[in-house]
Amino acid sequence: MREIVKVEGLKMYFGGLKAIDNLDMSIYEHETLGIIGPNGAGKTTLFNTICGVYKPTGGKVIFNGQEVQGSPPYEIARKGIARTFQISKPLHDLTILDNVIAASGIHEYTGIRSFFKKSHTKEVLEKVHAILELVGLSHIADKKAREVSLGYLRRLEIARVLATDPQLIMLDEPCAGLSNYAINEITELILKLKSQGKTIVLIEHNLPITMKVCDRILVLNYGQKIAEGTPEEVQHNKKVIEAYLGEEDED
Ligand SMILES: Nc1ncnc2c1ncn2[C@@H]1O[C@H](COP(=O)(O)OP(=O)(O)OP(=O)(O)O)[C@@H](O)[C@H]1O
Ligand SMILES: [Mg+2]
Repeated sequence: MREIVKVEGLKMYFGGLKAIDNLDMSIYEHETLGIIGPNGAGKTTLFNTICGVYKPTGGKVIFNGQEVQGSPPYEIARKGIARTFQISKPLHDLTILDNVIAASGIHEYTGIRSFFKKSHTKEVLEKVHAILELVGLSHIADKKAREVSLGYLRRLEIARVLATDPQLIMLDEPCAGLSNYAINEITELILKLKSQGKTIVLIEHNLPITMKVCDRILVLNYGQKIAEGTPEEVQHNKKVIEAYLGEEDED
């Protein structure tokens, strides 16, 4: 399988805190890779350094053979990496439909030229409606984002990611805080994307979900990789069990 992302010696320090500490990892085309680990392990920080929210303290992020670490988020998004946020960030006053249309515009000219370019072309609308259908939001396309439930907002986040035609989809805890029903819907959606051959990286606290959807799992603890392998391998790994038991003791 083709390696689309290679992370080498990645470090992200906040003062003395090593949120990501010398991490090496690869992401292969068409796989679903799970990132798990206790609270504060560095999972979201890993996303933020890959997506350009943070400039890493050290190391490389290589996407399609090109170093991208430290590039601004819009540039990395245009190259084809798209992510959702642990806390949904929709445009609250726009409708669901317009939120997805807005996201689909990232490949267009920015600045003054965009005023003269009509983005609501038939083609864009067709694409956006197909995405809304896929994620199950067609029936509330005209509702404002602020009026819909968290479960729908999470699906909207995924719709916005899909609208950018990404080569790599990164999902940060898309099921967190949802009802069992809504969790099932998101899980089904991820499985659908997977069956379409999409490349997905999923941060998820819910282990049964991770085990169900991921081909491979990488386990972080204190910013370091403590295990990597198939769900089966990771589940029985002693270091992983210890990291999770440690977390339970703290609660
Ligand atoms: N911008 C920041 N400034 C300072 N410290 C930060 C910053 N972002 C994250 N951290 C710290 O880095 C560590 C890793 O945080 P991160 O949010 O990546 O963990 P996580 O694995 O996503 O946790 P959770 O499961 O709770 O979402 C934590 O100790 C956190 O407090
Ligand atoms: Mg997090």
